[in-house]
Amino acid sequence: MFNTNTITRFQSLETPFYYYHLDVLRQTLEACRTASSKYGFHVHYAMKANFNPRVLDLIKEYGFGADCVSGNEVKAAIEHGFGKENIVFAGVGKSDKEINLALDADIFCFNAESVQELEVINELAKAKNKIAKMAIRINPNVDAHTHHFITTGLDENKFGINTWQLSDVAETLRKCTSLEFLGIHFHIGSQITDMEVYKNLCTRINEIQDWFEDRGFTIKVLNTGGGLGIDYQNPDTNTVADFESYFKVFKQFLNVKPGQEVHFELGRALVGQSASLISRVLYVKNGQKKNFLVLDAGMTELIRPMLYQAYHLIENVSQSGVISPESEVEKEATQDSELNTQDFIKYDVVGPICESTDCFQKDVELPESFRGDLIAIRTAGAYGEVMASGYNLRDRVGSIYSED
Ligand code: LLP
Repeated sequence: MFNTNTITRFQSLETPFYYYHLDVLRQTLEACRTASSKYGFHVHYAMKANFNPRVLDLIKEYGFGADCVSGNEVKAAIEHGFGKENIVFAGVGKSDKEINLALDADIFCFNAESVQELEVINELAKAKNKIAKMAIRINPNVDAHTHHFITTGLDENKFGINTWQLSDVAETLRKCTSLEFLGIHFHIGSQITDMEVYKNLCTRINEIQDWFEDRGFTIKVLNTGGGLGIDYQNPDTNTVADFESYFKVFKQFLNVKPGQEVHFELGRALVGQSASLISRVLYVKNGQKKNFLVLDAGMTELIRPMLYQAYHLIENVSQSGVISPESEVEKEATQDSELNTQDFIKYDVVGPICESTDCFQKDVELPESFRGDLIAIRTAGAYGEVMASGYNLRDRVGSIYSED
C-alpha cells in the first residue's frame, strides 16, 4: 500500500495523521455507484462515518446523497453542495433547534424514531407553515450478527419505533396535518458481512409495508439503512466492499412496488478502506512478559479498538516496507523472498494516553521495531478521524492526502 515515495514523504511529516488513499476512495465510490445504479437504487452517504471535507467533496462528486444525524451534519451537507432534495436527517434525539434548521433547509426527509418526535416535528413545521416529509424508522427486531455495541435493530435497542407501536404511529400520522408520510426506514447495525441478515431484513420490510398499505397508507420510499461490512483483515487484497452481492439481495428479496424508491445509507463500506492512521514509535519497552511499542497515536486518534475491541491491521512501514505476517500480501511475498519470520517480534501496540485501555492490539507480530519507525493502522477511514477527541488536551489529529 505504501510505496517508497510515500514512505519518504511520511518521514518529513509530523505524526500522527490520517493518510487518505483517495484512489481507493474513488475506486470504492465507482464500484458502489455501478452496483446500485443497475437497479435504480439511491444511496445516501452516512456522513457520520467521515466528514473530512475532501472526502465529502469526492462523495458528492459521485452523485450520492447525504444521511445526517445532527443539525451540524445537515449544515455541512449543504455547505458541501449536497442538494437539499438529497439530504435525510435521522437520529434518536433531534433537538428542536436541529429540527428547525432542517425545516428551514427544506431537506428531503426526516427519519422519525418515536411517536413523540412525530408530534414535535408536526408542531414545529406547523409554526413555520411548512409540511415536513417523514419516514418512520422501525425497529424490525432482526439480529445483525455483529458486535453488540453496533447492533441497532433488536427490541432492546433504543433506536426506532417498535412494531407493537405501529397503530399509534398510524393514528398520529393521520392527525398530524403538517407531516407528509413518505415511507419506512430501517437500520439494523453496522459491519454486517452476512448477506442472510439482509435477506431477513427484506422479509420484515415486506411484512411491515403490507401492514401500512392494508391501512390505506402509500409508501413511496423504502429506506433499508446501511451497515455493509468491510474486510479489516485484508485491506490490500479485498479493498472494495461487496456491493454487488449486497444490492442483489435487495433486488431479489425486497418487494418493490411500481413507483417506489429504494434508499440505502452506507457509511463504512464507502470510506473505511480509504484511510490509514500513520503514527511513530516513541518508545520500545522490552519487558519480561511483554514487549510494548508506545506510539504517538492513541485512543484520542482512533478509539475503535478500545471501544469495540475492533481489529485493525497494524504495519511497520519503516522496516523496508515489510508488513506483518498477518497480511495476505505479506504471506504471498514471503513465499519467494528470504525474509526471516524469526525477525518478527510480538508487541502490544499501545498509545500514549493515561488509560490502560489505550491499546490498539496485543501480541502483534511485527519486524523488530525501533524508536522513530512509522506505523500504519489500516482501514481507519470510517469512524476514525470523526471519533477523535481532545482527551489529555491532545492536538487535533491532522489529515494528509495521497493526491497532494
Ligand atoms: N444509518 C443509520 C441510521 C445509522 O445509525 C448508521 C450508523 C448508518 C446508517 C451507517 O452505517 P454503516 O454503513 O457505516 O455501517 N462507530 C461504530 C459504528 C457506529 C454506526 C452508527 N450508525 C464503529 O466504529 O464501528
